[in-house]
Amino acid sequence: MAFFRAACAALLFSAFFCLIALQYWLPTVAPPVRTEHHGGGIEIPSIGLGTWLSDKDKVAHAVEFALKSGYNHIDAALIYRNEDETGKGIRAANVPRDKFWVTSKLWNADHRPSEATIAVQKSVQDLGVEYLDLYLIHWPVAFVPGEGTKIDESTTIVDTWRVMENIARSNLTRKIGISNFSKRDVETIMKICQICPYAHEFETHPYLQQQEFVDYHNEIGVKVIAYSPLGNTNPNYKDKNKLEPILEDPFWVKLAEKKNATVAQTILAWGRQRNTVIIPKSVHEKYIIENLGALDISLTEGEMRDIAKQDKKTRMNNPGRGWDIKLFADLDDPTRLSDNEGNEL
Ligand SMILES: NC(=O)c1ccc[n+]([C@@H]2O[C@H](COP(=O)([O-])OP(=O)(O)OC[C@H]3O[C@@H](n4cnc5c(N)ncnc54)[C@H](OP(=O)(O)O)[C@@H]3O)[C@@H](O)[C@H]2O)c1
Repeated sequence: MAFFRAACAALLFSAFFCLIALQYWLPTVAPPVRTEHHGGGIEIPSIGLGTWLSDKDKVAHAVEFALKSGYNHIDAALIYRNEDETGKGIRAANVPRDKFWVTSKLWNADHRPSEATIAVQKSVQDLGVEYLDLYLIHWPVAFVPGEGTKIDESTTIVDTWRVMENIARSNLTRKIGISNFSKRDVETIMKICQICPYAHEFETHPYLQQQEFVDYHNEIGVKVIAYSPLGNTNPNYKDKNKLEPILEDPFWVKLAEKKNATVAQTILAWGRQRNTVIIPKSVHEKYIIENLGALDISLTEGEMRDIAKQDKKTRMNNPGRGWDIKLFADLDDPTRLSDNEGNEL
């Protein structure tokens, strides 16, 4: 009997010990797999050439000229419908593959796994590169494939992020990231990522500074790529705001004179100095060279403080209303959707 009691006690003790040990052991054997980004190679260069709205017959020359003039970063996307011509420019420049950076983006209609695989392969092939350096979810919005802008309710951003992680694992891109996400969307991805976003590309310029949002990315270690860095200069934005053209804004004209630079150079220098990657678009040799000059300008702390006061919190690029989706909900100047009575939803 005594032996039986001792055996039972030993058994209970071992079971208890095993339970305690398991509690400590489990998290160490099954942590979230926060894998490093794929590949060595260069970090994202601080200035790149944008290609949205670049004419098909001009973009190849612009890209070739930029790569031969000192740029080593091209920002592309499947939806710009000029990746094949962009690829011609890349090939003509004949720069070794590991010496330049190419970003492309997954379009909204391609979020499902089979569409995404075809889309990324098409971008890689059209751009004529073996792999991308960065592949972004273009918008946190999925469309039903083949049905225009009909929202695909069954595909979440988490589903799409899993697809992106598999694309990274397939080595078609060195790094993956996001674009046009709200803060809440970023937090969602940061909670679940196994391969975490390298960069977030979103609209930011002197008229939409979003400094807190930029700071947040610095804190979590996600690089910010500032799109439309020249504010409302993109002709597509002409009728979308009542602000004066930023290149003629007296504040910026005066500051540029003081810096002995052009207004565009001074604006871009500010973008770079606040630790955002700038990707100005141009198809003109003159502007392509001029914009590179931003790298030689540095602003004083006082000038940075004065610029901070010039924020107009005005967004230029917001297709949310057309898609009937409230984009940028927790950021400056979100999509405003209203019901039939005009009440904001
Ligand atoms: N992820 C996204 O959803 C998203 C959205 C928007 C943009 N982007 C990316 O960001 C890039 C840049 O943004 P963006 O194209 O909207 O606007 P941007 O680069 O701020 O402005 C482009 C406009 O500025 C003109 N320009 C360029 N340099 C100039 C200079 N030094 N002086 C005077 N004018 C100058 C260009 O003229 P020319 O072209 O006539 O030379 C073009 O009309 C895009 O091309 C795209 O790659 C991404």
